[in-house]
Amino acid sequence: MTKTVLAFCLILAAGLGVPQAYAGPLLIKFSHVVSEDTPKGKGALLFQRLVRERLGDQVVVEVYPNSTLYGDADELTALRENRVQMLAPSLAKFEAYTHQLRVFDLPFLFDDLEAVERFQKRAKGRQLLYSMENHNILGLGYWHNGMKQLSATRPLRLPADARGLNFRVQQSEVLETQFRQVGAQTTRLPFSQVLAALSSGQVQGAENPWSNIFSQGFHEVQPYITETNHGVLDYMLVTNARFWYGIPHRLRTQLEAIIDEVSYEVNREAARLNEQDRQRVAASGRSRIINLTPAERAAWRAAMEPVWLHFEADIGPDIIKAARSSNP
Ligand code: LMR
Repeated sequence: MTKTVLAFCLILAAGLGVPQAYAGPLLIKFSHVVSEDTPKGKGALLFQRLVRERLGDQVVVEVYPNSTLYGDADELTALRENRVQMLAPSLAKFEAYTHQLRVFDLPFLFDDLEAVERFQKRAKGRQLLYSMENHNILGLGYWHNGMKQLSATRPLRLPADARGLNFRVQQSEVLETQFRQVGAQTTRLPFSQVLAALSSGQVQGAENPWSNIFSQGFHEVQPYITETNHGVLDYMLVTNARFWYGIPHRLRTQLEAIIDEVSYEVNREAARLNEQDRQRVAASGRSRIINLTPAERAAWRAAMEPVWLHFEADIGPDIIKAARSSNP
């Protein structure tokens, strides 16, 4: 092969996401937007450590937390172009590629994180890992963060308390609709801008699991947090499909075994980490935690539940049914 032809092949391979087996260790850049002290942050570091211990110099994993390499606005494009090989965006962030994952954002659909886990493990949930392959995005597993809580500049006990407030949302039409149901406004913002937007008053409320609230310091600028557990914030660990299928079979199988182990650990630990951060927020005294009575929670549910019907045809009734049947 002449030098020109070889150079052309290398450029082509890089563009398509085909790993160059002969060009030294396989490089996997793993980028994410949260702190290292969260379920996802810890999962990325565990993956890096296990790959180093088990696969030695065959694979190098570089981890970039806190939107230091890519953020919400550009990470999926970077993945599809193989500029980064692994991400774990929240399930709300795949709107441009599939509407089926919108099921995870429906408010009050899952009773708790165990129900979410049951759905993710069943056939319908597993199928969704492959729902974006036509966009060159392959799901490798689900990682939990946790159930979301509502924070705001004023106490939220009943849906009417949210009226007129502007809530920061992830890039998700379901979440916008959810807040509209209670008369609130929304602003889509990348995760890296949320603290500044809450501090400046650009938005007055947000929804997050405890680990994101504590690790980002949202409780420092939001005087009230209502423990609603109204929806889930989980992740899909994704890779560039062409890159992944181009990894030699044996190595890919070893990587997949490590991913299964890491996913198990992340999912086992996520609830504990969130509970620990809930206690840290409470101990900080910076934010008052509001616990709802069953009747108050039922009022939020009644106000938000119509969102299911609104998105039923779009998501697929079969998917919603399977998700609902994972509740106890
Ligand atoms: C958010 O934008 O609120 C979350 O998706 C951030 C994350 O990755 O947990």
